[in-house]
Amino acid sequence: MAAEFVIEGLKATIEGKEILKGFNLQMKGGEVHAIMGPNGTGKSTLASSLMGHPKYEVTEGTVTLEGEDVLEMSVDERARAGLFLAMQYPSEIAGVTNSDFLRSAINARREEGSEISLIKFIRQMEGKMKDLEMNPEFMHRYLNEGFSGGEKKRNEILQMLLLEPKIVILDEIDSGLDIDALRVVAQGVNAMRSEDRGFLVITHYQRLLNYIKPDFVHIMMQGRIVKSGGPELAERLEADGYEWVKEELGIEDETVGQEA
Ligand SMILES: Nc1ncnc2c1ncn2[C@@H]1O[C@H](COP(=O)(O)OP(=O)(O)OP(=O)(O)O)[C@@H](O)[C@H]1O
Ligand SMILES: [Mg+2]
Repeated sequence: MAAEFVIEGLKATIEGKEILKGFNLQMKGGEVHAIMGPNGTGKSTLASSLMGHPKYEVTEGTVTLEGEDVLEMSVDERARAGLFLAMQYPSEIAGVTNSDFLRSAINARREEGSEISLIKFIRQMEGKMKDLEMNPEFMHRYLNEGFSGGEKKRNEILQMLLLEPKIVILDEIDSGLDIDALRVVAQGVNAMRSEDRGFLVITHYQRLLNYIKPDFVHIMMQGRIVKSGGPELAERLEADGYEWVKEELGIEDETVGQEA
């Protein structure tokens, strides 16, 4: 049951408004699941709720990673258990350098007394930055401060490479990346694919899925998955948009709705 990740009947609210309305998904290690869906259908809310963002209140459902109850865990514990989220809009943290942040994040996942040595950390970080074609100066910059959109996305992938999570959630990792950066980032992700790691890739564009080939594609509307298929589903969406899905399922408004 390597990296088995199961979400059942997940409901979440923000400021009293229900955004996730019964989300179900089962993932196994080695699998890549893509989640596509129109704007405002709850994709980022799903990602934040899974990581334990304090703004979102989970009201129903279960989430387990290798049989462990994720919803019971603090944000730190989720990271230690192997959950990782590359955010759609990564936060800037002034005063904390990228390398300090990364080293603390790595050590937070380790037992006390077995922290990574500075030399080893720097060697690893330099190696991964080279793979991602990042300028070494980014090591010493404050976390995401003044980073361009694409630089932030590359930096999220750097974190993923160093933290070696079990479940990787990528929220629009392709937005803001130029064509070459998209290829570099996808190579970084593909290098991490393994039997004991699962990926949840949120994207609007089939193009990313040409590089990171999904096993399953899910369409999210109204705060839950309404249709699943293989890679051909993403191709159909690219060609035809979402109207046919809404017609097929009798959905008029695909968003989570505006009622309070
Ligand atoms: N803090 C908040 N306050 C009020 N509404 C919110 C809040 N956070 C999210 N929402 C609403 O929840 C809905 C879902 O937002 P979410 O960011 O999950 O959508 P998404 O599917 O990721 O969209 P996109 O494709 O544009 O990134 C939106 O209507 C959004 O306005
Ligand atoms: Mg989003």
